[in-house]
Amino acid sequence: MVIINSVKELKDKVSALRRENKTVGLVPTMGALHAGHASLVSRSVRENDATVVSVFVNPTQFNDKNDLVAYPRTLEADCALLESIGADYVFAPSVEEVYPEPDTRTFSYPPTDTVMEGAFRPGHFNGVCQIVSKLFMFVEPDRAYFGEKDFQQIAVIKAMVADYVSKGTEWAKRLEIHPCPIVREADGLALSSRNTLLAANERAIAPNIYKALKASVAYSKNHTVEETKQQTIADINAIEGLEVQYYDIVNALTLESVTSWDDADHIQGCITVFCGATPIRLIDNINYK
Ligand code: PAF
Repeated sequence: MVIINSVKELKDKVSALRRENKTVGLVPTMGALHAGHASLVSRSVRENDATVVSVFVNPTQFNDKNDLVAYPRTLEADCALLESIGADYVFAPSVEEVYPEPDTRTFSYPPTDTVMEGAFRPGHFNGVCQIVSKLFMFVEPDRAYFGEKDFQQIAVIKAMVADYVSKGTEWAKRLEIHPCPIVREADGLALSSRNTLLAANERAIAPNIYKALKASVAYSKNHTVEETKQQTIADINAIEGLEVQYYDIVNALTLESVTSWDDADHIQGCITVFCGATPIRLIDNINYK
């Protein structure tokens, strides 16, 4: 496995792969890797001749500077994990390497980037599009892999790629976006790099989020969307130390809120919960149909 810090070296390496007609998979990450990331990387290794994993805590997607400072950074352990599961290249650049000058590009794909996380974290998805578009331009991958824990992020990235395709961009035409299922702890907590920030008592209550989401699917069978939403919020808020920031039940393709279970063929519930005193912001989602 080769660790690369410069954009030029990355581009040279992938150009060499292309000359040999090799397919390239990209797994963008912010490091602090866990089994969820490992599942994306393993899939890329299975489906491509070469796999590039980026490890970069992207400052432009953090609307809260304290969150950026607190974000876990574990490059050495990340590289050991990536080597053990067969990644070929790790791209771990500095902020200056990725942003030699401020990125002033703006991306806007409403409603995917304006609802839920978009409303509560202004600028977040613009930053995600800045870094992910740069990574796509550097690597020009055949396939890119993203975890469904960030359900909304996938919708925004798909909208961004569709936008590049509509402008005739070659790398976008070839690129396939592959969403991958959430990986959970045995007690149901969705794996997240942020889980390492949870104190023991916070970690103990966090699985109640998924427990409530699962219960809500059963509840939804004979209740309205609004009743299901309110019941889920009440179940989670009843646990001391958990506080729902939002729970929305949406069309899984457009991310628009639904008011009836007949409003869309695929319906997803997306939640953000504050956990503990710090608090740590945890997100999760569940499919209703
Ligand atoms: O999902 C993440 O970890 C990040 O948002 C991503 C896609 C790596 C961009 O920084």
